[in-house]
Amino acid sequence: MMTTRSSRRVLVSAAVPLGVVALFVTAFGSYRAFAATQAQAAVQSPAPAAPAIPRVYANITATPQGQLIFQPEGRPVLIEAVRPPVWTLAQVRGNPRGTADGIALDFGRPDFNGTLVFGLLPYADTRYPQPVYRASVPISGGKAEINIKTSITERYDMVGWAKAGSGVLGYRVISQTGGMIYDGRVRFKGLGPFEVAVTMIEGPFVANVTPTQAVIWFQLDRPALCSLVVGTRTVPCREGEARQELTIDKLQPGTDYAYRVQYGGNEEAYGFRTAPAPGSRKPFVFAYASDSRGGQGGGERAFSGPNAYIIRRLMAVAMDRKAAFMQFTGDLVGGYASSPDALAFELANWRRAIEPQAHWLPVYTTMGNHDSIQREFSGEAVPPIRIDRFPFETESAEAIFAREMVNPENGPASEDGAALDPDPNAIDFPSYRRNVYWYQHDNTAMVVLNSDYWFAPTIAQTPRSGGNLHGYLMDQQMAWLDRTLTALERNILVDHVFLTTHTPVFPNGGHVGDAMWYRGNNAPRPTIAGTPVAKGIIERRDDLLTLIQSHPKVLAVLTGDEHNYNRMRLDEMVPIYPEGWDKPRVPLKRPFFQVNNGAAGAPYYAQDVTPWSAAVRGFSTQHAICLFYVEGLKVRLETVNPETLEVLDRVVLR
Ligand SMILES: [Fe+2]
Repeated sequence: MMTTRSSRRVLVSAAVPLGVVALFVTAFGSYRAFAATQAQAAVQSPAPAAPAIPRVYANITATPQGQLIFQPEGRPVLIEAVRPPVWTLAQVRGNPRGTADGIALDFGRPDFNGTLVFGLLPYADTRYPQPVYRASVPISGGKAEINIKTSITERYDMVGWAKAGSGVLGYRVISQTGGMIYDGRVRFKGLGPFEVAVTMIEGPFVANVTPTQAVIWFQLDRPALCSLVVGTRTVPCREGEARQELTIDKLQPGTDYAYRVQYGGNEEAYGFRTAPAPGSRKPFVFAYASDSRGGQGGGERAFSGPNAYIIRRLMAVAMDRKAAFMQFTGDLVGGYASSPDALAFELANWRRAIEPQAHWLPVYTTMGNHDSIQREFSGEAVPPIRIDRFPFETESAEAIFAREMVNPENGPASEDGAALDPDPNAIDFPSYRRNVYWYQHDNTAMVVLNSDYWFAPTIAQTPRSGGNLHGYLMDQQMAWLDRTLTALERNILVDHVFLTTHTPVFPNGGHVGDAMWYRGNNAPRPTIAGTPVAKGIIERRDDLLTLIQSHPKVLAVLTGDEHNYNRMRLDEMVPIYPEGWDKPRVPLKRPFFQVNNGAAGAPYYAQDVTPWSAAVRGFSTQHAICLFYVEGLKVRLETVNPETLEVLDRVVLR
C-alpha cells in the first residue's frame, strides 16, 4: 500500500540553505547553469562527499557543497530532504553492560522516557524459547537498569541462573505512550557483579532448505568463536564476524535434522527437515501471506514496523499445520524509510516476530513497496519526488534487504543490459540478489518476483527523475522469468509452478489505481535516465499473462499489496481489458488462479469494482494465512484466520 510520511519531521540539510539556492537560481536562471560555471572550481577544491549519482536517474546533480538537488529543465529546484531515523537498531538494543546488581541499558537518547519490561528466557522446556516477562522499570533520560538480584530470584528463577551463574534476559522497550519499540535479548554472567556474556541477539534462523543442504544464520552481539553442529559434523563460524550464515551440505533428502549453535560456551538446539528428493510426490503443505506491516489497535499490532501480533499468529498456524516452508511476498514492514538504519530496525522487529518458529521453518521473503528506502527531494509549491536510495551497492532498498534477509541467489543480476541501460559496461541498477529467485520443494516450484524493484513512488507523477513504477516487472526480470519457466516446464520432476509477486495482476480492493492495472491506463511505466521504457503497465501485465499461458505448469499467482483475501479463476470468459483497448489481447485459453493474501496484519481494504469483479471469490478482510496442500498432482487451498482459526475458504485448485 502506498503512504506518505509527511507527518515525519523533515530537515533540509544545512549544507545549502534554500535561500542560497534560490539566489543562484535568480542570478543564473537555473542551478544547472551555476553548476556548470563552478565545475572547474569543484575540481580544484573537492567538495565534501556527495554520493555518485547513478546514471539511471536524470536531472539530479550535486552542489559543490555536496547537497543533492533535482531540477528538470525549466522547473523549480527540489532539494534533498534529510530525515534522520527515529531509532537505529544500535540504539534500541540499548548497549547493555553489567553492573553490581544487574544490567544497565543506555538507549543513547536523553530525550527518551518509557518503560522496560523484562524476564528470563527458558530454553530447556520449550521448542520456541520466548521471554516470560516478570517485571518492569522506568526508562528515564534514555537509561534503565535491571536489578537481577531483586527481581528474578528464587521462585522467579525458573532457569536456575543463581546456580549456573548465567542466564538470558528478554527485554521489551516501550515508549511513554505505550508504543512498542523493540524486543531485545542479553545473556548475563555472574552472581553480582554481573557482566554481559556473548549473546545470540537474533536467530538462529533456518533458510534455503534443499534436499541436501540448509543455511543457518544468526547474529551475535560481538564477533566470537562459534559453530554449527549437525549430527557428527561441525561447521565453524567465519572468524571476526558477529553475523553468521552457515551452510550445512551433504544431507539426506526428506530427513529431520537436529542442529546446535555453539557460541561463547553456550549452546542452543533446534531442528529442520530437508526437502524431499524432487519428484517423490509425497503430500506436503506450504504457507503463504503478505503485507504484515503495522496495523491499527496498538500493542503488538504496531511494533515499530510490523504487525507482530498477527505475524506471530501466522507462524504458529504455519507450524501447527506442519508447513514445509512459508512464502512471504512483500510489505513486511511499514518502511518507506529514509535511511538504511531505519529499514534495518523495522526488519529486525519483523524477524523477531517470526523467530520462534523460524528456528525450525524456512521463511522465504521478497520486497513490496513498503520495504523501501528513499531519497526525497522537495521544494515549495511543487510535489516532492521520491526515488530508490543510492549508492545502490550500499544504501538501496535492495542492498539492505539482501543484507538483512537470507533467500536463494539464483535470480537475475540486475536490470543492467536492458534496452535503455545508459552504460553497458557499468553496473547502474540495484541488484536482484535475494529479492528475485526461485526454489523447489518436491514436485513444486515457487518463482519469486519483485514488482517493486528500484521503486520510485513518484515516477507516475514525475517521470523525469528515472525509476521504476509500483507493479512493473522490468525487462531483465521478465527475460529471467521466461528462461526459468521454460526450464521448469522441461523438468519432469516438477508438476506445479507458483508465481508470487507483491502487486496483484488483477487488483480488487485498495490498489485498483495502481498494481498492474492503473484503472486501465497503460501510460504509467518506468523511466531510465528520464526516458520512458517502450511498454506501459498493461502491456507488461500482458507479457506476464503470455508467459503464464505458454507455461501450463503455472497454477497460480500469489499476490498481496491489497490487504484482504480473495481468489480468482482466470479464463477466456473473464474480461480483463479497459474500454477501447487498441493493442493486442492475450486470450486466457489456459485457466489459472490468482490468490491474493495481503491480510497478514496491515490495515484492510474493501472490495472495488473492476472489469473482472464477477470472477472474484471468497473476498474477506479478515486476517488470513493460505495453506496449500500439494498431494501429488492435486493441489487444494485452505485459507484460515490465524487469530480465530476459522476456515475462511476451501478450494481445489488442480
Ligand atoms: Fe504494497
